[in-house]
Amino acid sequence: MCGIIGYIGSKQAIPVLLDGLKKLEYRGYDSSGVGIVCSSTHKLDLRKMHGKIHNLEKLIKDKPVGQSSVGISHTRWATHGAPNKVNAHPHFDCSKKILVVHNGIIENYEDLKRTLIQKGHKFVSETDTEVISHLIEQNYNGDIFEAVKKGIRHLRGAFALGVICSDDPEKLVAARVGSPLIVGIGNGENFIASDVPAIIDKTKKIIYLKDGEIATITRQEVLVHTFAGKQVKPKVNIVKFDVDAVKKQGYAHFMLKEIHEQPEVLAKIIKERIHGNRISLDGLKLTEKQLKAFKNIYIVACGTAYHAGLVGKYVIEKLASIPVSVDAASEFRYRDPIIDNKTLIIAISQSGETADTLAAVREARSKGAKIISICNVVGSSLSRDSDGILYTHAGPEIGVASTKAYIAQIAMLYLLALKLSSHTDKISERARLEIIKELKTIPSLYKDILKTKGLISKIAKKNSHFGCFLFLGRNINYPSALEGALKLKEISYIPAEGYAAGEMKHGPIALIDEYRAVVCIAVQSPTYEKMISNIQEIRARKGKIIAIATQGDQTIKKHSNHVVYVPRTLDLLTPLLVALPLQLFAYYVSVGLGCDVDQPRNLAKSVTVE
Ligand code: M6R
Repeated sequence: MCGIIGYIGSKQAIPVLLDGLKKLEYRGYDSSGVGIVCSSTHKLDLRKMHGKIHNLEKLIKDKPVGQSSVGISHTRWATHGAPNKVNAHPHFDCSKKILVVHNGIIENYEDLKRTLIQKGHKFVSETDTEVISHLIEQNYNGDIFEAVKKGIRHLRGAFALGVICSDDPEKLVAARVGSPLIVGIGNGENFIASDVPAIIDKTKKIIYLKDGEIATITRQEVLVHTFAGKQVKPKVNIVKFDVDAVKKQGYAHFMLKEIHEQPEVLAKIIKERIHGNRISLDGLKLTEKQLKAFKNIYIVACGTAYHAGLVGKYVIEKLASIPVSVDAASEFRYRDPIIDNKTLIIAISQSGETADTLAAVREARSKGAKIISICNVVGSSLSRDSDGILYTHAGPEIGVASTKAYIAQIAMLYLLALKLSSHTDKISERARLEIIKELKTIPSLYKDILKTKGLISKIAKKNSHFGCFLFLGRNINYPSALEGALKLKEISYIPAEGYAAGEMKHGPIALIDEYRAVVCIAVQSPTYEKMISNIQEIRARKGKIIAIATQGDQTIKKHSNHVVYVPRTLDLLTPLLVALPLQLFAYYVSVGLGCDVDQPRNLAKSVTVE
């Protein structure tokens, strides 16, 4: 979603800001803008543009701003008002002394706007953000820090703010509630940003602002206060990931790079978490006694993370016999879930900033549940809202379509299920050890699958003209079918539906004719023969079959137009394998259709508004 970067230092602000904005492009946006304090006049100036950042760069080239070493900038993902130049951030107050960039949503903006208009303020945009500039102006009495502090007390909703003021040209003010914001500490220069990749090549020293904190930032100093005015000593973290992690490193797209990183991601998780045959879940912060005491589990997550959660349900119920419900986080708190202190919540999120997931976690906590999270981004809001955290350490995921984070989430769920299984007698110790042994082989199996990408690319080319796809799977690969369909629709814009294959006869079969392609996950499993019957039903209606099958399966060829093989493994572990051909298929269809693979239209990498 929206991205923020602000700079105060001795360099020219514009190149620093534009460079940071480009690093935030992956979050998804539809307009952008920069605002600076002019070094000679101390006046504020801004440039804003719809569309991609190169449009903004061109505007600045054609219409340069003055010299400046202090500024704020923004990529906007439209919520209130169209993605045009006027609605792009930063936003001025009436006096043009104050400029604001904002991530999040101000829920009471209509009431505030009405009141501010009555007080004489003039609005130019349709955004919720503009009320913030005017609120700060309304509370301004010569001290910008005080004005921001007083102004934001009126806001309801989520916000991360960057503010500059022409009366106080040597300062950035930043504040947050609900939306992430960091301060980067440099040498004689400091930054604010919505996330680490924007500034990782400039500093590794990061302060994660907490909800309810406001920072004043000069070249030499960062002061942090609570909204109540109490000064706090912020923790300065040294972030670990290296600059190359946010580069394409020769791959055509981040998504392709991230698909190829999956063997490494999984191998790392196994190395860190499996010692001999012992599963180590450091970070869980739950004793064996506490783990044993849980009577039920809710998994809450969105999108791909939700699909990982569905795989988790199958695995935990199968191995540990604990009832698991999986909820789309956006629905969870509206259905009054039955929760008590015997309930364990597992929240799954790559970013750890998904507003719906955070809201679900807060709801569960208010009802007495323990919360553990599976999360990729260290220091995220979710990590702070959880009792225990299992970091996936998959490295930054830049492509909007989640790939390596999904594999890492599933892997963590297998490990958690194995851990929980040791408290029950649902499976024998021998079976447990066999799963652990097989899990360790999966990274090497990935190499074989990645070798089939030429074939998958050809299949994608031959089939991308189909206007609609069905993805079918059964049992533990039903979630894989949902995920395959999500991948395809989000990056190629082709309608795609994931279904449990057994459900096909109850509706989706009506879609089948010679113009439909169906991706069938038909790996060796107890439901293999039933899947073959489903495939035959599709063939009888002239539908085209793309099958994902197990190496050595010759029968499947008779029933399919195309087959992609994955290596043989335990049925339980097959979701870890079939994800890769599905990701590659979506990738090559998207490339073939000329879509924007890494930044698909309308989508944001982390969805920080509800
Ligand atoms: O950061 P999160 O894992 O919480 O994000 C959840 C979804 O927004 C995300 O998985 C989304 O569905 C992806 N674009 C899927 O590829």
